Amino acid sequence: VAAEAGAAGEEGAVAVAPDSVMRTSLPTLGVGVGFREPFRPDLFLNRPEVDFLEITAEHYLDAPAEKRRELILLTTHFPLVVHGLDLSLGSAEGVHPRHVEKLAALIDEVKPPWWSEHIAFTRSGDVQIGHLSPLPFTRETVDVICRNVDAIKRVISTPLILENITYLVALPGEMSEAEFLRAVAEGTGCDLLLDVTNLFINSVNHGYEIREFLAQIPLERVVQLHFVGGHEQEGVLIDSHSRATPPEVWALMEEVLARAPVRAIALERDEGIPSFEEIAEELRRARAMARRYDRWA
Ligand SMILES: [Fe+2]
Repeated sequence: VAAEAGAAGEEGAVAVAPDSVMRTSLPTLGVGVGFREPFRPDLFLNRPEVDFLEITAEHYLDAPAEKRRELILLTTHFPLVVHGLDLSLGSAEGVHPRHVEKLAALIDEVKPPWWSEHIAFTRSGDVQIGHLSPLPFTRETVDVICRNVDAIKRVISTPLILENITYLVALPGEMSEAEFLRAVAEGTGCDLLLDVTNLFINSVNHGYEIREFLAQIPLERVVQLHFVGGHEQEGVLIDSHSRATPPEVWALMEEVLARAPVRAIALERDEGIPSFEEIAEELRRARAMARRYDRWA
């Protein structure tokens, strides 16, 4: 898979598909970073390196005064997008109306050009699972997600984009992950946040070809990317958000940038946080890559 993804080569010529890259009307945000508190001083000291911040929605719902002040500070100084973790789009019993209302209030305050959630479930009945759990790739699941997204769209008009997650166990299903992602995007009408690290990890752990996956998903809907490095444990790749971005993920990012109307790229580093210079170096590299494909000035 690494060889397959790396075939494009970071400096190599990747064919650009102009039809697909024109589709979206969403604005360009550039290259940014998932906001984490340890970054805070460095973000302000290195303001030109960071085009936008992605904030975690749940950190600001029912927030204490300190987080409220932080939100105002960030909103004043950076373009923001809102990234949800706990809406549980795949829950058959529906999304919690109160959670949707709180998200709506946050989005109304921040006024991001779009917001995002995961194609996953985090709740079953009244049980909070505590992490992003994979869904079976079935028609029934697609219908559940469509129903939930419809309910959300009635409350929140800001465009919602949907992100692919990693999964350690492949549940029995009726379609491939790529077919499922396409069905979800088409059924909900949502654009996609393609986490290229998650895609790389899944392709290795579940033994599929990235190129085939990219041929099957609606690349014309891919408007944002996530990237970071993970680690390996007993032969399995884990999306721990803990390491520098590996060469295979950079190559995959380039492949997608050449073919999709990407408007924003966010680095998602949560663990093993390095010096901000290392973060900034990755942001510069992503920005240079996007410029090579004329994604933004
Ligand atoms: Fe992600």
